Amino acid sequence: MKYVVNARSKKAEIDKNIYGHFAEHLGRCIYEGIYVGENSEIENTDGIRNDVLDALRKMKIPVLRWPGGCFADEYHWKDGIGPKENRKKMINTHWGGVVEDNSFGTHEFLRLCELLSCEPYIAGNVGSGTVQEMSEWMEYMTFSGVSPMSALRSENGREDAWKIPYFGIGNENWGCGGNMRPEYYADLFRHFGTYVRNYGDNKVMKIACGPNSDDYHWTDTLMKQAKNQMDGLTLHYYTLPTGKWDNKGDATGFTEEEYFATLKKTYYMEELLQKHSAIMDFYDPEKKVALIVDEWGTWYNVEKGTNPGFLYQQNTMRDAMIAAINLNLFHKHADRVKMANIAQMVNVLQAVILTEGKEMLLTPTYHVFEMFAKNQSSQLLESHLFGEFIGTGEQQIPSVSESAALDQDGNIILNLCNTDPHLAKELDVELLGFEVGEVQATYISGDISAHNTFAQKELIKKQEFSDYTKTNNGLLLKLPPCSVIAVVVKTK
Ligand code: AHR
Repeated sequence: MKYVVNARSKKAEIDKNIYGHFAEHLGRCIYEGIYVGENSEIENTDGIRNDVLDALRKMKIPVLRWPGGCFADEYHWKDGIGPKENRKKMINTHWGGVVEDNSFGTHEFLRLCELLSCEPYIAGNVGSGTVQEMSEWMEYMTFSGVSPMSALRSENGREDAWKIPYFGIGNENWGCGGNMRPEYYADLFRHFGTYVRNYGDNKVMKIACGPNSDDYHWTDTLMKQAKNQMDGLTLHYYTLPTGKWDNKGDATGFTEEEYFATLKKTYYMEELLQKHSAIMDFYDPEKKVALIVDEWGTWYNVEKGTNPGFLYQQNTMRDAMIAAINLNLFHKHADRVKMANIAQMVNVLQAVILTEGKEMLLTPTYHVFEMFAKNQSSQLLESHLFGEFIGTGEQQIPSVSESAALDQDGNIILNLCNTDPHLAKELDVELLGFEVGEVQATYISGDISAHNTFAQKELIKKQEFSDYTKTNNGLLLKLPPCSVIAVVVKTK
């Protein structure tokens, strides 16, 4: 297969935030997965488990969305500040009806972001909150002068204001966030957004709730009614193998047919990005409003024997393919897509990390994020693959997913994924306008349903990739079956 990359043709900056994550008060994501409390036997820093912190740091997480999700529109931030023993306990109605003791709140979340050196993205409550509540949250977090909220913050042990660069005004307000019509939500967005203030030098991006997958009317209405008030519009799309919510398909033990059907559903993201971008282009040709895919990933039936409200699922090489395909699609649409947040970071849906008590493992999806991290803030390059399609019946997909970028040191990065379960693919890479020097490459590969377990934590792990030779104008690569490969080509 011929693959041409033009090193002289830069298309757009790949925003680092495309590698963003999402952590909700859902199942074992926050509690146990991230936060175990200061008195836990699990080694921690201010209650946040050290093993998870170390893994996330290696992955270079740039931005983290919190506290939901559907949870966001039921969350009242004042319940989660002050002495822990005084914090209100509530029912997490959306997710398993369990008691939420609010021991992880604003201070703990922003401490987590500090420890990860990542930026916070807060999702505010429109569905069941008030304008005043939202306004005061921003004041509490970002105002450094004399005010009731900054005084409360100091009382709670934090003198300095934090920086909040991203604020979401509601979540899924077409569904769990209030079942609203877009016309109504657009007005609420303008109303609530007015009081999300910029204090001092904090410059917040105001992010509107966008469509549920292919709801183009929602995008059209929001852009028409509120584009001048917004900096970003979200998009949510999950990959369900069957496309049905009552039986989504299992995370493991699936057939090859289901594998191709799932990947085909992931490729639907391309159509969504194209069509929503086209609507946005009509209203906003200068691309001032970012498209923010702040929930994406796979959603399977929960693992047998686990709480159905906890959305705990395994993560296989199929998920690695899906992560690579989506990230490549986001790269290709980097002119409009400025942030994406995989759902969710630990123990929920397409997680990069799974925990069981004090044990932790990295999923195949983790390795894709870690290998592709070099794309953060790189320049997308023009690239073309003279490829082929594979699959079963109508479930035909490109056999290789690709994107190429120029990193900040002038190296070419090739992001490749061979989705063929059985056959290696030879790629004849031509790098136009580039003299090939040293090459470094890593990969993961395995059976389509291969995954890491607590009994075998490293069945899938990152390895050095050496199946390549240099040619006159590029490289000849042999991509193993069902693999994700990250290649860094230095110049001479
Ligand atoms: O990520 C799980 C849920 O999916 C989120 O809470 C909600 O926003 C979406 O429906």
